[in-house]
Amino acid sequence: MRSLVEKLCRERVLSEEEFIALIQGRDPQVTALLAQRAAAVRRKVYGDRVFIRGLIEFTNHCKNDCYYCGLRCSDRVVERYRLSEEEILGCCHRGYEMGFRTFVLQGGEDPGYPPERICALVARIKEAHPDCAVTLSVGEQPREVYQSWFDAGADRYLLRHETADGDHYGMLHPARMKLGNRLRCLRDLKDIGYQVGCGFMVGSPGQRPAHIARDLAFIHELQPHMVGIGPFIPQKDTPFGKEKAGSAELTVYLLSIIRLMLPNVLLPATTALGTIHPRGRELGIAAGANVCMPNLSPLAVRKKYAIYDDKICTGDEAAECIRCLRGRIESVGCVMDMGRGDHVTLSGKEVDRYV
Ligand code: 5AD
Ligand code: FES
Repeated sequence: MRSLVEKLCRERVLSEEEFIALIQGRDPQVTALLAQRAAAVRRKVYGDRVFIRGLIEFTNHCKNDCYYCGLRCSDRVVERYRLSEEEILGCCHRGYEMGFRTFVLQGGEDPGYPPERICALVARIKEAHPDCAVTLSVGEQPREVYQSWFDAGADRYLLRHETADGDHYGMLHPARMKLGNRLRCLRDLKDIGYQVGCGFMVGSPGQRPAHIARDLAFIHELQPHMVGIGPFIPQKDTPFGKEKAGSAELTVYLLSIIRLMLPNVLLPATTALGTIHPRGRELGIAAGANVCMPNLSPLAVRKKYAIYDDKICTGDEAAECIRCLRGRIESVGCVMDMGRGDHVTLSGKEVDRYV
């Protein structure tokens, strides 16, 4: 195992067979070694800074029907909401006053928020806060739409690929959703000039080590700026409501592998990781993650954005989360950074050689 870790550090990639061996052969020693190497690489590239993004979950309407997601259109229990432009700008304004310089607008694929409306919204946010980065995360769209949002000022886009294996993709989604289109979207986004994030759930139903190995190979090929991974957590009203959750331990292990593969990547310690383990986000940061995304949505809607069960922070004001996160980040020897937190290649300080 040690030699695979050394090879990963040296060459930044392994074959899919080697990734499978690294996943299957993990033990506490290898885990600690990977985490230590990954944290050193993160330190070399970004110092001890952990970037904070303000997440605004602005609509929980969704036309898709992903089997794992609590916002799927077939779910008749969820109380739907859609924030108005004024409410969203209000969240940004309050966030700005607290020090946030980057906002992530996340939502379902909501026909009630057509592309032109999002375009105008992005333009208004950038007009009000020209010094802030705006990230969109609203699913699959035609290239022209992505281009129009970019032209309106959007800087970044998050679209998890969910799984890079076509058959596994078919187990997680209805037949009308295609992996090919997902990947097309990611390539278009990168081509247009966004800072792009892909990612997947750890421990989603049917996921095997070979699928994860393929995800890692795909991430290496795409070379995204951001990678979002978090454990799968069942949501009781979905078809996967009785499936087993993914593990914090494997998620943290994979965070280290991804950091070693992409030294410059922006890597969140996700809310899902904090949900399945009380110190999940700290463990993620200690293993190479460098982003946290506290929620800026109004408290009144928080619980309605129930992608999975028992999500943390749904009852805490943003200011409270900031205080709480600061303590958690400092507990693992890092510092909180409220700046834009661009990918290091965009601030001209890319580190190409590392330990
Ligand atoms: N558990 C964990 N993560 C989930 N997501 C969706 N449903 C779940 C779940 N039940 C993730 C998906 C999606 C992101 C917004 O949240 O990866 O892309
Ligand atoms: Fe929200 Fe800790 S981060 S309460």
